[in-house]
Amino acid sequence: MERVLILLVAAFMAYMAPGIQGTAHLSFANNTTQVSNFTRQTCGVTELCVETPDDCDPAGNTTCLFAAINASTPMAPNGTDLTVKLSGESMGYIALGLTVNSSVGNTMLFICAQNSSSNGTFFFRTMQRNNVNTTDAPTPLEKTVTEIRGSVTDNMIRCEFNIPDINATTSRSSHATTFTILLGKGSFDGNTLGVFNVSLDSGPLNLRDPTSNVVNATTAPTGRAPTLAANAVLLLLSVLSLSIML
Ligand SMILES: *[C@@H]1O[C@H](CO)[C@@H](O)[C@H](O)[C@H]1NC(C)=O
Ligand SMILES: *[C@@H]1O[C@H](CO)[C@@H](O)[C@H](O)[C@H]1NC(C)=O
Ligand SMILES: *[C@@H]1O[C@H](CO)[C@@H](O)[C@H](O)[C@H]1NC(C)=O
Ligand SMILES: *[C@@H]1O[C@H](CO)[C@@H](O)[C@H](O)[C@H]1NC(C)=O
Ligand SMILES: *[C@@H]1O[C@H](CO)[C@@H](O)[C@H](O)[C@H]1NC(C)=O
Ligand SMILES: *[C@@H]1O[C@H](CO)[C@@H](O)[C@H](O)[C@H]1NC(C)=O
Ligand SMILES: *[C@@H]1O[C@H](CO)[C@@H](O)[C@H](O)[C@H]1NC(C)=O
Ligand SMILES: *[C@@H]1O[C@H](CO)[C@@H](O)[C@H](O)[C@H]1NC(C)=O
Ligand SMILES: *[C@@H]1O[C@H](CO)[C@@H](O)[C@H](O)[C@H]1NC(C)=O
Ligand SMILES: *[C@@H]1O[C@H](CO)[C@@H](O)[C@H](O)[C@H]1NC(C)=O
Repeated sequence: MERVLILLVAAFMAYMAPGIQGTAHLSFANNTTQVSNFTRQTCGVTELCVETPDDCDPAGNTTCLFAAINASTPMAPNGTDLTVKLSGESMGYIALGLTVNSSVGNTMLFICAQNSSSNGTFFFRTMQRNNVNTTDAPTPLEKTVTEIRGSVTDNMIRCEFNIPDINATTSRSSHATTFTILLGKGSFDGNTLGVFNVSLDSGPLNLRDPTSNVVNATTAPTGRAPTLAANAVLLLLSVLSLSIML
């Protein structure tokens, strides 16, 4: 019998700079809902999809590490809002990384993880990776993320979240929505998130263009119907907001 873990939570870690008092508020919706079905149906249409192995289907093979990103129209000066779906198999965590250049500076990591010390309970973190010293463990990053939903079934982690106000031009004067996407995994020992192991480096992609990484295939992958596991994966919707008081 498949073990289904239901989860919840959304603890989003806020790392506070000295001198700033922060309060993190967690709130949970009363209703439970499911993580939406992950398919390739909207890839290249309303979502930019990245995955490894190439063209793998998140509804099928569990070896598929997959992310689908929808970017809103950028509104200066705050930037764009991203809606992200992420899925993959890991005993620890899976993560989506956003960076301007994966060989310099830092990568923002949006981590969906299971807590092995707590029967595989789902949790979420924002961290950053040093792109130069890539074997350093990730360090906490203060970044607001909302509408975090997640589930863990066996070691399959699925999550969805929104990242408001993303702007790439704070570090480079070009397109505000051009980022390099990293997909990867790492360990969690009950306490510490281990080194981020990169499985995919997309190179620069315009997140506003769902076709920016579409290769000219003769047959585009058509939407395969999601094969829902017999066991429904429940999940609790959690919304988290952070307010910082100076
Ligand atoms: C994001 O989704 C909305 C609503 O489905 C759609 O109108 C918009 O075009 C999508 N954005 C991109 C960049 O595809
Ligand atoms: C999943 O994909 C891997 C690599 O492509 C393959 O070896 C494996 O047989 C596939 N498993 C299933 C259940 O399709
Ligand atoms: C930019 O962000 C600020 C602070 O969150 C908000 O008050 C403002 O309405 C935002 N502007 C736009 C155009 O979204
Ligand atoms: C991104 O940030 C730059 C510099 O802070 C600003 O000039 C630009 O208007 C922003 N763009 C968007 C779409 O928010
Ligand atoms: C990333 O930075 C390195 C070192 O500055 C540079 O050589 C490389 O061209 C940059 N890559 C991109 C995609 O900008
Ligand atoms: C993991 O589970 C342990 C035991 O329940 C708990 O003490 C710890 O805070 C949890 N860690 C996270 C990141 O949720
Ligand atoms: C973990 O699962 C075992 C067996 O299903 C159960 O006995 C135990 O209470 C669970 N522990 C937690 C922290 O949920
Ligand atoms: C990388 O690590 C080395 C040794 O710990 C340190 O000297 C160097 O400043 C680090 N580089 C960056 C960019 O953090
Ligand atoms: C990271 O990658 C290395 C080499 O591919 C592999 O041996 C190691 O098990 C990976 N670690 C994790 C936590 O995935
Ligand atoms: C795809 O095909 C179009 C027109 O046939 C061509 O302009 C474009 O460069 C091709 N893109 C790739 C990634 O091959």
